[in-house]
Amino acid sequence: MIKYFILIVLGYLLGSIPFSYLTSKYIGKIDIRKHGSGNSGTTNVFRTLGKKAAFIAFIGDFSKGLIATIIGGFIFGTNGAFLCGLSSVIGHCYPFTLNFKGGKGVATSAGVIFAISPIIGFILLFFQIIIIATTKYMSLASSLSAILFPFLGILFNKSITFIIYSIIFSLFVLYKHRANISRLLSGKENKLKFKKNS
Ligand code: G3P
Repeated sequence: MIKYFILIVLGYLLGSIPFSYLTSKYIGKIDIRKHGSGNSGTTNVFRTLGKKAAFIAFIGDFSKGLIATIIGGFIFGTNGAFLCGLSSVIGHCYPFTLNFKGGKGVATSAGVIFAISPIIGFILLFFQIIIIATTKYMSLASSLSAILFPFLGILFNKSITFIIYSIIFSLFVLYKHRANISRLLSGKENKLKFKKNS
C-alpha cells in the first residue's frame, strides 16, 4: 500500500513541474496563462510563442509523463506504471506550483503512453498529425486520440489493467477538453496557425 502511495506522490510531484509555464516565462518572457487560450500547455505555447518554444515545452511535459511511468513500471509493473503516469498527468493539470491550474494533460499523457506502449504511442501520434493537418484543430486531434486510445488497447490485445487505465485516461482528457469540445460543436474553436520562422 505504501508503495502505491509513494508512486502517486512521486508522479504528482513530477507532473507539477510546469514546463510550458517555465518555457514561456524564461524563453518568451510572458505568463502563458494570460495569453491565447490561457492554458499552460504545448498548444498554447505554440499559438503564442511559436514552434521552437512549443517544442521545448512539449519535451518537458512529455518527459515527466515518460519518466514517471518508467519509474512506476520499474517498481510495480503495469499497474505501477499507469498509476504513477496518471498521477503525473493529474499533477500537470492541477499543479500545486501554479495554484492547481495547469494544462490539459495531452503532452504528459503522450509520455505515459509512449513509455507503456511505443507502438500505440506512434499510432496515436500519426493519427493526431493527420487530424491537425486536415482540420487545424489541435483540441479535436487531442479529443479523438483520447477516444481512440482504449480501442487500440483492445485491438492490440492488452491486459484488462491496460484497458481500464486507458478508459480513465480517455475520460480525463475529454473532461479537460470539455470547453474545447463545446466550442468545436458550436464552430467557435480556434484553429492553429502555422507561422514560418517562429
Ligand atoms: O493539448 C491541449 C489542446 O488540445 C487544446 O489546447 O490551448 O487550444 O485549449 P488549447
